[in-house]
Amino acid sequence: MSRDFSSEVQRVRPLAIDAPAGDRRATANITTRRLAPSDSIPELTKLLHRAYAKQVAMGLQPLAGRQSPEITEQRVFSGECYVAVDHAAAVQSRTGQKIVGTILFHEVEESKGPPWFEKPEVASFSQLAVDPEYQGCGVGRMLMDMVETRARETGAKELGLSMAEPDRELYEFYIRRGYRFIEHWKWPYTNYRSAILSKTIA
Ligand SMILES: CC(C)(COP(=O)(O)OP(=O)(O)OC[C@H]1O[C@@H](n2cnc3c(N)ncnc32)[C@H](O)[C@@H]1OP(=O)(O)O)[C@@H](O)C(=O)NCCC(=O)NCCS
Repeated sequence: MSRDFSSEVQRVRPLAIDAPAGDRRATANITTRRLAPSDSIPELTKLLHRAYAKQVAMGLQPLAGRQSPEITEQRVFSGECYVAVDHAAAVQSRTGQKIVGTILFHEVEESKGPPWFEKPEVASFSQLAVDPEYQGCGVGRMLMDMVETRARETGAKELGLSMAEPDRELYEFYIRRGYRFIEHWKWPYTNYRSAILSKTIA
């Protein structure tokens, strides 16, 4: 069944135009949209592995950093998966579009989640990742802005997330974006304690 994703496209803001010379990727034409049936799950999985490699190098075992394409598929179709696409790089890509980032809204996990996620007014996102070659030019912010808007549309008052507590740089990244610490949680498939953060969006 074909689905129309055109109404969900969002243009990247012109922030990247001021990127330093040499940072060509930052000036590319990047938009976000829903994951489409034609998108490659193995390629999306490879992107996740590349993005989470830094945490893996820290000795952490995030699921997104090592999951199989089958697990990726299971996860993305349990919720609403969005991708950021570089149209400039797409012309060189045999698949037509180059996915450079992703975020998963409202993932339904098989494992029991933290109490905060069970509150009816709390929405959540997971599996946020930007290709390392594209990090630092606003793609992550664009994906988060979009999911915050989507969460508001669903009537949520809070947007929560789970992150690897030892990754302090990432923690500060979220704090700068208005998220706050809620509680700790231990997922069964990781080797670290997670921090549950949340932002009031209503
Ligand atoms: C976390 C992550 C998604 C952020 O994505 P990103 O695209 O790099 O994020 P942004 O570019 O929107 O913002 C990063 C920083 O770069 C800055 N930046 C934005 N545009 C810039 C530019 N043109 N030049 C230089 N810096 C820029 C932003 O201001 C921001 O800095 P700040 O935190 O001080 O505000 C990405 O680092 C990632 O994939 N990490 C690995 C996976 C991971 O840990 N995911 C989260 C799991 S919970």
